[in-house]
Amino acid sequence: MNTTADPRLLGRTVRQIVYRKEEIAKRVRELGAEITAAYPDGELLVLGLLKGSFIFLSDLVREIERPLQVDFLVASSYADGTESSGNVRLLYDPETELEGKDILLVEDIVDTGRTLSRLMDLLRARNPRSLEICALLHKHIATELRYPTRFIGFDAPNEFLVGYGLDHAENFRHLPYIASLQ
Ligand code: PRP
Repeated sequence: MNTTADPRLLGRTVRQIVYRKEEIAKRVRELGAEITAAYPDGELLVLGLLKGSFIFLSDLVREIERPLQVDFLVASSYADGTESSGNVRLLYDPETELEGKDILLVEDIVDTGRTLSRLMDLLRARNPRSLEICALLHKHIATELRYPTRFIGFDAPNEFLVGYGLDHAENFRHLPYIASLQ
């Protein structure tokens, strides 16, 4: 596909398509099978962290062949004075009961790992039966992530990526591929 002529790009040029639509679909199918096998019993609650995970989450849950429930989290980093404090607060807190359930937290990308670390602390305090992370992309530069990422789609390059849920200034989330911009 000639991405330079892609009308979705607001006139920007793609430097490289890092993951094609078909490649993503194949990996999401594999992740779905891994997750299905990892949870033979129990109540599974898949929690999508908005907004970035919305496309990945919707594709992923359709590849998980066991009962499950879906809910969402909306988080926000907030500033402490002029510097970002690194604190994360929940703007939307899932109404679904977490206690005793297997929780799978779904994220589009792990960058510094700050968001996930704080959210995992918050969720762990609610006594789930288990708590794991599934990230489509992992840059492996996360110095602040104090939890392992159990399910990873792709080991991503340390570049600014857009598409398939990932944005730049709220644009490009709807690209069916994942790309780096020029
Ligand atoms: C992005 C991304 C991850 C987070 C990763 O979210 O979706 O949630 O940053 O960064 P970290 O590992 O350094 O914490 P963003 O805050 O841009 O919100 P969005 O999901 O609405 O795009």
